[in-house]
This record gives sequence, structure tokens and C-alpha cells, in this order.
Amino acid sequence: MRRPILAANWKMHKTTGEAEAFAASFVPLVADAVDVDIVLAPPFTALDRLGRALAGSNVMLAAQNANPEEKGAYTGEVAPGMLADVGCRYAIVGHSERRTLYGEGDALVARKAAALFAAGLVPIVCVGESLEQHEAGRTFEVVSAQLAGSLAELPRDRAAEVVVAYEPIWAIGTGKTATPETAQQVHAFAREQLRGRFGAAGDAIRIQYGGSVKPDNVDELMAQADIDGALVGGASLDPEAFSRIIHFEKR
Ligand code: PGA
Repeated sequence: MRRPILAANWKMHKTTGEAEAFAASFVPLVADAVDVDIVLAPPFTALDRLGRALAGSNVMLAAQNANPEEKGAYTGEVAPGMLADVGCRYAIVGHSERRTLYGEGDALVARKAAALFAAGLVPIVCVGESLEQHEAGRTFEVVSAQLAGSLAELPRDRAAEVVVAYEPIWAIGTGKTATPETAQQVHAFAREQLRGRFGAAGDAIRIQYGGSVKPDNVDELMAQADIDGALVGGASLDPEAFSRIIHFEKR
């Protein structure tokens, strides 16, 4: 059985004080959720303070990005070892906003994922098609290429640990969610690809769905066989809403 993983992607939201206030309300709300992995990804500036606020709880810390190098002249960048140093267990890589707004491609995402493993973190690798690609019927082709490219440098013996997030770009922040059936089809396809690449580890890899996941649609999404979690933007900014998502109804 794959352990569900629910992750909050706060994007460019919340100061250190706001992150601490979130933790103060959220940690008690989810203390009973012991059979799922709960992850918060604040902006870099809030990692240290939020990490301290989460100490001793069942909520883990993640970064929203990482540089693939260990150190050096990379102005504005943060290395995986620095993220480990402030207590991160995970880091999101290849988010569509980084791919589309900052020109990141699969080769760079692959290097980031490998560097994170090397530093003792687990990458959450995002893939997903644009509206144009979706409407042109190219979803499977795009997801397949992104998976192959973005996971190309993964150490084979660690493959089972990686987390993949399928986030159709047309569903991110738009209020439009893929129907559970459509999402399941893509997740099943992604799993087949992962099995083809990594063998039995493909069955262990957790595949999150992302794109307008909310308290009122999480249950039907999580009921799908190959949806193992959610990567949540907007609805993760509110402790009660994200707690409701963590407590999705098991069917
Ligand atoms: P959303 O964002 O939940 O606000 O659609 C999801 C994401 O971009 O990870």
C-alpha cells in the first residue's frame, strides 16, 4: 500500500510570522492524522522559522525549488544541502510555474532531483500538460516525455522514494479540476511509464494530483486507485481547509 502524501505549496505567500501562525493552528488540527504524510512548502525565507514551529509534530518541511549544485557562484540560488540544514525532507522541482515563467526544462529538473537525493532529501517532481496540449489530445505524450526527461538522473535504487505530482496546467489556480476519472487515467498511464522505467519500484512511487484540489473535491480524487496524494496551492493557505484535505474521506 502506498502511504498518502498531502503537500502544501504556498508559492510566494506568507511571511515568517504568518507561517508560524499557520503552524500554531494547523499542527493540533492534524495531530491525529498518523497514516498520511503531511508536508508544508513555504517560501525559502520562512523555512527555518516554520521548521522550528513544526519540530516534534507529524508535519514535514519542504522547499519549493533547489539548485542542483552543492555551492558556488550562483546568485539567488539555494543548494540542497542548505535545505537539509534547515530541516527540509522534501523539495518540489519542475513545478509548471518554474517551467513556464522561468524556462526550466526537463534536463535541469532531472539534475535537481538527483542532487536532492544526494543531499538526503526526496524530490517531488511535477509534470503536466498545458491547456493547448490538453485540447490537442497530447496529454499522454507530454506526460510521458516529461517523466522520462525529469527522472532521467534518478538513482535506480532510490526510485521507489521519489514523489511524482501530476498537475495539468489548465487546472492550476483556475478552479477547474480534472475529473477524478480523467486524473485517474493519466495517473494510471504515468504509473505504467514508471513501471517500464523502474520495474517494481513503479508500483511504490506515490503520484500526487495537483490543480485546484479543495476540501470539496479531495475525497473523490483520493478514491482513485492511482491517486496517492495531492499537491495543493490555494486551499493550503488556510489551516482549516488544508486540515480537511488531510482528513480526506477514505472509501
Ligand atoms: P492550486 O495550485 O491548488 O492553487 O491549483 C496547485 C499547484 O500549483 O501546486
